[in-house]
Amino acid sequence: MGTRHVSTFWRHYQIVVCAGTGGVGKTTVAAAIALAAARAGKRTLAMTIDPSRRLAYALGQHTIDNLEHPVAPEALREAGVELQAPLHVLVPDVRRTFDELIERSPLAAARKAQLLNNRIYQHFSSALAGSQEYAAIEKLYQVHQSGHYDLIVLDTPPSQNAVDFLEAPGRVLDFLENETLQWLVKPASATRFPRRTLGVGTAFFWRTLGSMTGGETLRELADFILSFREMYDGFRTRAAQVRSLLRSPQLAFTLVTSPAENQRHAMLHFYDELCAQGIIPRAVMVNRVHPMPPWGVSTTDAITAATRLLEPLDPEVTFQIIEAIKEEWLIAHHDSQALKELEARVHPTELVALPEQRQDVHDLVGLAPLQALFCADRGPTKS
Ligand SMILES: Nc1ncnc2c1ncn2[C@@H]1O[C@H](COP(=O)(O)OP(=O)(O)O)[C@@H](O)[C@H]1O
Ligand SMILES: [Mg+2]
Repeated sequence: MGTRHVSTFWRHYQIVVCAGTGGVGKTTVAAAIALAAARAGKRTLAMTIDPSRRLAYALGQHTIDNLEHPVAPEALREAGVELQAPLHVLVPDVRRTFDELIERSPLAAARKAQLLNNRIYQHFSSALAGSQEYAAIEKLYQVHQSGHYDLIVLDTPPSQNAVDFLEAPGRVLDFLENETLQWLVKPASATRFPRRTLGVGTAFFWRTLGSMTGGETLRELADFILSFREMYDGFRTRAAQVRSLLRSPQLAFTLVTSPAENQRHAMLHFYDELCAQGIIPRAVMVNRVHPMPPWGVSTTDAITAATRLLEPLDPEVTFQIIEAIKEEWLIAHHDSQALKELEARVHPTELVALPEQRQDVHDLVGLAPLQALFCADRGPTKS
């Protein structure tokens, strides 16, 4: 298949997740794909859980409120970008996402209000391991279910392994299925677990309770357990649905890396982790590739020609210029070797090369050349 310099792999999916270590360009790639898709007429949502908010800022969005905001048409016009379909940006908020889950639950209105104000709930919604990731996937599930979008592009925070993110719903499920919680939330007759169950999960409860003070604590615990009892089954079903969305064939995982050896190594670690979970990444983006200088001649011939041209200059200046040309060629050569190695290693996953831009990419104008690499009009070319 070869390395692609233009790719429209996203056309085959409803969700594209950009994952990888920090600083490689996940946010940039997510924004570029989202722009390309909206330009191609797909109703697109760019969603970011990267705490740096670069995606939201690059798309001109500064409000973080768990709502879907359209990218301002003026900002697009200024950048010379014309969309065929609306592009929205969403920055999910953990607390609000959990609150929405409660608001939509079958609890009575008074019970909902009580639960939302409950300090134990407030603590649980943010302190539970993986709750950040879980909230993000829950929000992803909601917007996907809404049917408002043809494509959702999710930009993830920098992480050491891809599994953290994938396992968030599993961790929530484990917590919900934990013996202690079952014992606490299920009516005594329904539970298989007798009172002797003071196992691992209990520690979490007592730690949480221990961090709270005030005479209200016990009443709040009772309320929390009572409300949770009514929501339990619904919540568990939802966590299972959310989990299966991550493995759905409509969702494409893409891994972003740079040509640098340590970054490629980290990306391949992610790649193998995903494959071990039965999820084959659909594309690997190699960002910031230095293209071969467009000489169309061999390096030796180019250097000979350049030396002749530079003859009238100070020999020291000539030397420096020639060295710079060689350096550029060496980097480009290194990057092209790196692409070849990766291509063989991740086959049959599509490998996409994104060139290093001369300027930092931080807004719609800067994104314009990169988004073009995800548009169909230029067609794929082989390296
Ligand atoms: N192809 C590129 N050419 C030049 N600069 C880039 C390119 N891709 C990303 N950058 C710059 O690299 C930095 C990190 O990119 P970012 O997308 O925020 O990475 P991540 O989300 O993986 O942490 C940003 O300053 C961005 O503008
Ligand atoms: Mg980022």
